[in-house]
Amino acid sequence: MKSYYITTPIYYVNARPHLGHAYSTIVADTLKRFHKMLGEDARMQTGTDEHGDKIVKAATAAGVTPQAFVDDISSVFRNLWPQLGIENDGFIRTTDPEHKKAVQVLLQRLYDKGDIYFGEYGGHYCYGCERFYTEKELENGLCPQHLTKPEYISEKNYFFKMSKYQDALRQYILDHPDFIRPERYRNEALAMLEGGVLEDLCISRPKSRLTWGIELPFDKDYVSYVWFDALANYITALGWPDNENDESGNYRKYWPGEHLVAKDILKPHGIFWPTMLMAAGLPLYKHLNVHGYWLVKDTKMSKSLGNVVDPLKAAEHFGLDAFRYFLLREMNFGSDASYSPEAIITRVNADLANDLGNLFSRVLSMNAKYFESKVPALGNQLEADDILSETTDNAAANFVQLFGELRFSQALDALWTAIRAMNKYVDEQAPWTLAKSGDTERLGTVIRTLLENMYKVAYLIWPIMPASSATMQAQLGRPQGPLSEAALNDVLHYRMHLRTGLEIASSSNLFPRLEMEKEEAPAKPKKEKKAPAPKAAPAETGPKAPIEFTDFQKLDLRIGTILAAEQHPNADKLLRFDVDLGEEKPRQIVSGIAAHFKPEDLVGRKVVVVANLPPRKLRGLESQGMILTAEFDGGLSLLTADAPSGSSIA
Ligand code: MSP
Repeated sequence: MKSYYITTPIYYVNARPHLGHAYSTIVADTLKRFHKMLGEDARMQTGTDEHGDKIVKAATAAGVTPQAFVDDISSVFRNLWPQLGIENDGFIRTTDPEHKKAVQVLLQRLYDKGDIYFGEYGGHYCYGCERFYTEKELENGLCPQHLTKPEYISEKNYFFKMSKYQDALRQYILDHPDFIRPERYRNEALAMLEGGVLEDLCISRPKSRLTWGIELPFDKDYVSYVWFDALANYITALGWPDNENDESGNYRKYWPGEHLVAKDILKPHGIFWPTMLMAAGLPLYKHLNVHGYWLVKDTKMSKSLGNVVDPLKAAEHFGLDAFRYFLLREMNFGSDASYSPEAIITRVNADLANDLGNLFSRVLSMNAKYFESKVPALGNQLEADDILSETTDNAAANFVQLFGELRFSQALDALWTAIRAMNKYVDEQAPWTLAKSGDTERLGTVIRTLLENMYKVAYLIWPIMPASSATMQAQLGRPQGPLSEAALNDVLHYRMHLRTGLEIASSSNLFPRLEMEKEEAPAKPKKEKKAPAPKAAPAETGPKAPIEFTDFQKLDLRIGTILAAEQHPNADKLLRFDVDLGEEKPRQIVSGIAAHFKPEDLVGRKVVVVANLPPRKLRGLESQGMILTAEFDGGLSLLTADAPSGSSIA
């Protein structure tokens, strides 16, 4: 069985998890799930980076020991991941005793080989980055990352002969064009290797300055540089070095693997780590996959700006799967992306509520109405049916290809061409008209074609939205079976997956529309205060002023038939209807009559509709008309007439 190993950076425990950490970890989870779907033995690894100055400083500020501090925050990370739907197979901490021992073996191996030497060094040390900068690297004398003045430190330290591997690494990157991807980061890494001789890497810190680290096996007065310790996690987490030659161990099974990082840590991953592996005589990772930064409303996230996004709160607020979908769809992998509540609400309402959710809701409720929720048989197929299935098959193949290339946004967009085509097919085939004309065979074929194509989408979306995928598959009568290559191949190559006659869900409410809350809405320019308008007499009290006949003629009143009725997902008092007004497609009408009627009692009823009111949003759903009612003693009755849908009232 082919294996697949994907890692996230191990996160510093000096800050709580935020949107950026969540993004990398969710992407790693979707990749692991995707490779499981491809039938591979897929493993995903994350963890925490717990040594170094930064952590000691944070612990001191919190008034606790470094150990107590790292235990606390590390568990916040560990406990967060399952709540974001992440199934990591391992969680490594750099304070784990096995990791510490393994790092010492690695250090000793390089030392014995002569690749680590002792020397004097003076440099500009940035405590934030925990590294020395050369004069050249500083920007106006400041650290380019933190914009703070580094401290000039001169001391004796151990150095890793990174320069020795400079040419070999450069050649390797040239020979393996996608070793570091996307390409812009490969070019950046090459530029680092081509700008003169690479400096050797200072891999120790004297204990006189820092004790919170892994002791060097060959000098107890020093601890390891935090990056040397941290990078090794990718193999120590697999049980290296004890199982270096054990065919059945995790190291031989999963290494070399795939790394996922953001652009901030390109240098350690693109330069330090591969040269360390070369020195240790170990294979290099397969790919370094580098993504951009999430900005918040186009600004860098930072504690001081107070704009740090808590991923758990966002997932709870918008829905976990909606949040995961947004992250994968919105960021073009490799480039920066902008996060804001408006962006997520717009994206989720358009793609999930309107396109995908609405498709499931309308098709399942039509199937309930016309076929008592049983999967109808496929009759003679027309060209339109074939075109739809072909569109879905192409979309599915493109999705798989693009996702494998880490082009998540494009992959989802490809899948959505199928979803949009299905909604269009509903509008064009107009099942309600087929029902009216009694063409049950054609009606069944249309609904069955839709259900089969919907199943493919439900299956393929699993890596991104695992819970919704499971719900959708269950709604179609296919509780998710084991994910295997066979199942994916079936989905990609066959068109029939459902069982004729099986009773399936009669309704679906997957992704309720999201409302913009006051604090999420962009600030509106203040309106000038107007003098209050004279109050109109309330409608219910007393007769209204006479109107001209021409005013009355402006009303477009028509008879409609209620095709579907359900509770509004976001409001107790409202019902949502699909009403046939004899037009090309039914209208969605939202009406405040939930207190008086059960939605299921209204399906099939004839009603009078004001058809020429401008569309209006009611708690997130657009209402394209108004159903007329008569009020009496707290009761309510629907106006009706025995005439076909679309008849106008004069
Ligand atoms: N401890 C090191 C990594 C060692 S790996 C051997 C570290 N930790 S970190 O906590 O600072 O995490 C950096 C990583 O968090 C980034 O590479 C990225 O994966 C994620 N992100 C942090 N902020 C981010 C954004 N604003 N946007 C996207 N991801 C970012 O560096």
